[in-house]
Amino acid sequence: MKLAIVGTGYVGLVTGSGFADLGMEVTCVDIDEGRVRQLQSGQVPFFEPGLQDLVKRYVARGRLRFTRDLGSAVRNAQVVFITVGTPSLPDGNPDLSQIESVGKEIAENLDSFKLIVMKSTAPVGTARRLGALIRSQRGPAADIEVAVNPEFLREGSALEDFMRPNRVIIGTETERGARILKEIYRPLYLIETPFVFTTLETAELIKYAANSFLAVKISYINEIANLCDALNIDVHIVAKALGMDRRIGPKFLHPGPGFGGSCFPKDCRALVQMGRQANVELSLVDTALRVNARQHQVVLYKLRQGLGALEGKTIAVWGLSFKPNTNDIRESTAIVICQALLKEGCRLRAYDPEVCAEAQAVLNSERVCFCRGPLETAEAADAVVLATEWNEFRNLDLAEVKRAMRGDVLVDSRNVYDIEMVKSLGFRYFGVGRR
Ligand code: UGA
Repeated sequence: MKLAIVGTGYVGLVTGSGFADLGMEVTCVDIDEGRVRQLQSGQVPFFEPGLQDLVKRYVARGRLRFTRDLGSAVRNAQVVFITVGTPSLPDGNPDLSQIESVGKEIAENLDSFKLIVMKSTAPVGTARRLGALIRSQRGPAADIEVAVNPEFLREGSALEDFMRPNRVIIGTETERGARILKEIYRPLYLIETPFVFTTLETAELIKYAANSFLAVKISYINEIANLCDALNIDVHIVAKALGMDRRIGPKFLHPGPGFGGSCFPKDCRALVQMGRQANVELSLVDTALRVNARQHQVVLYKLRQGLGALEGKTIAVWGLSFKPNTNDIRESTAIVICQALLKEGCRLRAYDPEVCAEAQAVLNSERVCFCRGPLETAEAADAVVLATEWNEFRNLDLAEVKRAMRGDVLVDSRNVYDIEMVKSLGFRYFGVGRR
């Protein structure tokens, strides 16, 4: 089976190399010439564990190709996956212009039947409109079918999620589209991955409903954690007990400074907008966003508890990506924390294992010093904030960190450290919702 994947962002690249691994011939298309050249030489332009090796392997074997020529990729493929970005517009609606322009270009290059599969996250109705757009350009008899196959890849463990998904959602117009997608995913079908076959619109909504539900769950546990702080209760015991109820489940009940990334905030905003347009108030999701927008302040509150006024203080920040194992800083809470601390008049020392240039561009201030390691970051700092829980920060020699610091405040916004242990080293410890 020959596939074209349009868009070599993180979803497109993981999907493309994943399908190459499942035995398909894949051509990935991008308009960015530099990126295509980089990928042709087997270099992945962002950090995702395992991806570089996979891309190199299948580029070398000729099963994974990269091109700027969308026309030839479409003409050579039976199935075209669209994996371009749908970033938020200022009003919260997603920007669908990349999908539209890809649709127009596909229409210009139709030569035989194509199944056009939307993997980009887009509001209910987008796939059907895309089909209509292509048909209007090529005439109603255009030999195409559109489908929706949302992705549930987590950055940092995207390949694992691709190969062992909890479920595969397939929304199609006809039986024919469903058959083709079932064939593409046959290796996963054989290992008994659950499949949901449904309509285009249902598949589109499932994606938003899933991400928004997880976001609500995080905001919920964050509010419970804030209450635990006030009542001197350990939120982890509460979360553990909640998770034992199979109707609730243990995942995504980890409190912290709020969710970030390119998906949850954007998708929650888009779902709220979808509700508004359908005259349905989605107040839970709206509230989850509002709770999240203020949750990073928990870090400032803890710092004030430890240091008093923050102006002029030097704060070390460990971790800048929105979560570990990625160099993605889109809507990263760690960056939001840094910006808030700068506003308070703090000096920052910052370090992340994979992020530097991107953060330097965003945190462009003479009061920010980017360091080469966690220990250097802590030097002469009044407080250390663990903002993103990379493994590197879990097994540090904290006694050495303490000696390097000027002060003794440790704000563990991800609750990774053993409280008694850090206290025994002389730290004043502040977690989120821990006694
Ligand atoms: C999320 C979903 O988990 C994927 O299933 C989905 O495919 C993806 O969005 C997408 O739509 O493309 P991702 O954004 O990579 O994946 O990251 P998550 O692991 O879900 O974490 C999102 C944010 O929630 C992070 O900032 C993380 O720190 C935070 N989080 C997560 C918590 O604060 N607490 C938790 O218990 C879990």
